[in-house]
Amino acid sequence: MARFFSIDYVERATLRDGTPVVLRLLTPEDKPILAAGFAHLSQPARYARFLAPKSSLSEDELRYLTEVDQESHVAIGAVCEAGDGHGNPVGAGIARFVRIADEHATAEAAIAVADDMQGHGLGKLLFLRLCAAAAERGIQRFRCEVLGSNTQMTALLASIAPERTVATGGGVMSIEMQLPNVLATEPPSSEPPPGPMYKLLRAAADNAVEWTEAVRRFWRRDP
Ligand SMILES: CC(C)(COP(=O)(O)OP(=O)(O)OC[C@H]1O[C@@H](n2cnc3c(N)ncnc32)[C@H](O)[C@@H]1OP(=O)(O)O)[C@@H](O)C(=O)NCCC(=O)NCCS
Repeated sequence: MARFFSIDYVERATLRDGTPVVLRLLTPEDKPILAAGFAHLSQPARYARFLAPKSSLSEDELRYLTEVDQESHVAIGAVCEAGDGHGNPVGAGIARFVRIADEHATAEAAIAVADDMQGHGLGKLLFLRLCAAAAERGIQRFRCEVLGSNTQMTALLASIAPERTVATGGGVMSIEMQLPNVLATEPPSSEPPPGPMYKLLRAAADNAVEWTEAVRRFWRRDP
């Protein structure tokens, strides 16, 4: 069956701060944009994305991240419509999933948004599109490895997926979520109103509550 998220998929969106972006699937030709985007990513954002200190991407890693089959490994990228002012595209964010070989309906998902673009809705938009692309490929669950301190990502997941389980170890949370039933064209603002757990996470991310072990325990839902 024809995919909505195919190589023809192009979506224009305007972020909350007015920045126009274009979303599309990654291609092997995106290596320079991805490399430049990585170079501009702050160390904390790199650590949050790769769960390890990372100073550069090797050629092999660039190949792995861009030469994807868009079936078992799907990558959706966003570029700033305005570019760098010299006609070159500027990467704004990438969300991807990789199907887990021996768990056919589960995929590992990861996302990164450029530091200066964060907080304007791009992460949520990319992740919603990733969910829809995964669903049309028969994926039912995402697993995300997230730093225990990463309240932005945990709040993002809480705002999208009410059904989640969390396993923790070594400062990393393995969050497994049932894919929400979202349209491929779902506007992020049409999401159902957030529940109390989301509000707690949001407050924690805003430092309105102390992110203590007690709060973590309250939030955790073991399988
Ligand atoms: C996590 C990340 C992708 C979020 O991207 P983003 O574009 O900033 O996210 P959005 O603006 O779409 O926000 C989505 C939700 O996240 C939460 N959130 C994001 N930033 C937040 C902040 N500073 N404070 C509180 N909540 C925040 C909110 O729930 C928000 O939903 P809302 O805007 O409807 O309230 C981004 O912070 C990032 O790239 N971090 C580094 C890499 C990383 O951590 N990856 C995750 C592990 S794979």
